[in-house]
Amino acid sequence: TLLPVVLAGGAGTRLWPLSRTLFPKQFLPLAAQQSMLQETLNRLGDLETVPPTVICNEEHRFIVAEQLRAIGRVGQILLEPVGRNTAPALALAALLQQQEDPLLMVLAADHVITDTEAFTRAVEAATPLAEAGALVTFGVVPDSPHTGYGYIRRGDACDGGFRVSQFVEKPDAKRAQAYLSSGEYYWNSGMFLFRASRYLQELGQHRPEILSACQGAVSDISRDLDFVRVATEAFEACPEDSIDYAVMEHTEAAVMVPLNAGWSDVGAWSALWDVREHDERGNALRGDVLLHDCDNCLIQGDDRLIAAVGVDDLVVVDTQDVLLVARRERAQEVKHLVEKLKAQG
Ligand code: GDD
Ligand code: MG
Repeated sequence: TLLPVVLAGGAGTRLWPLSRTLFPKQFLPLAAQQSMLQETLNRLGDLETVPPTVICNEEHRFIVAEQLRAIGRVGQILLEPVGRNTAPALALAALLQQQEDPLLMVLAADHVITDTEAFTRAVEAATPLAEAGALVTFGVVPDSPHTGYGYIRRGDACDGGFRVSQFVEKPDAKRAQAYLSSGEYYWNSGMFLFRASRYLQELGQHRPEILSACQGAVSDISRDLDFVRVATEAFEACPEDSIDYAVMEHTEAAVMVPLNAGWSDVGAWSALWDVREHDERGNALRGDVLLHDCDNCLIQGDDRLIAAVGVDDLVVVDTQDVLLVARRERAQEVKHLVEKLKAQG
């Protein structure tokens, strides 16, 4: 069996002011008609799977439950009392599946994939590899020295994939540029396929303290409707880390399957400008917008008309209580504004 496991616990602060603590980006219809979480699950359409497990923070449980119901994909909703990043989140999901030991199809809730068929084929190619015990990652051919991604060095070919000869999470700019120029590296898409038990073995080998904290957390679970809760104190005591640093950088069992499916991680407004539809002058517009002689802007209105004259490469996002104006190529720095606001309380 193939069990989709959707990681939906991120904060999405670089998409402020639309993405908020109470309503982060993965629950918003940012790139398409439906929310990014719903799009993630819809994309599984052609694969044979059991109902999904969505892992999210306790405070978003009703949003998730409602969004799953709306698309007819009701499944288990695993609630974290606090975020401890993706390595513990996946450990909880895997530990709850020890009896069946399915293949876990790990998906981030905030990616855009334009070619669903190519995605389906990549998962199908990865399935026998994961069944044979590999931790499969899906590699994307890089087109910039992005420092927010994991880099995978392609090793020898093996049954529809490649051995991973090196995995480097979020390299600095210099190394990212060297990896890009070498032509030997792929980006880690942040999606994985592996057997639950194999992930737990590797986690136990490389980060035993994370595994044991999560074992403690699932020793006392409670179920209520589709919600599954773990022991709060045990989980709070778990060290924080991502699967990339905790496992993928160290494991010998990683295999990469190339993914050429129009993948992008819509981390910031500039990336959203990339994936949204543009008018003939490169403007990606939503809401009521009136322009004269503007190029390559992303403008998102809310209730009122937004009008602009003669500006280029801007991001303008209007909400009920905040108006954001930023240069498009610096839009990811809105995270600093969010930090400032938090500091002010
Ligand atoms: N449940 C849960 N709990 N989900 C989480 C948590 C958590 O504590 N933290 C993050 N997530 C979710 C996010 O919502 C997102 O869907 C996914 O896990 C990945 O987390 P990000 O925080 O977005 O990771 P990243 O983008 O910095 O890096 C990862 O993805 C890149 C590709 O997008 C890594 O896997 C990189 O190697 C990869 O290149
Ligand atoms: Mg991300």
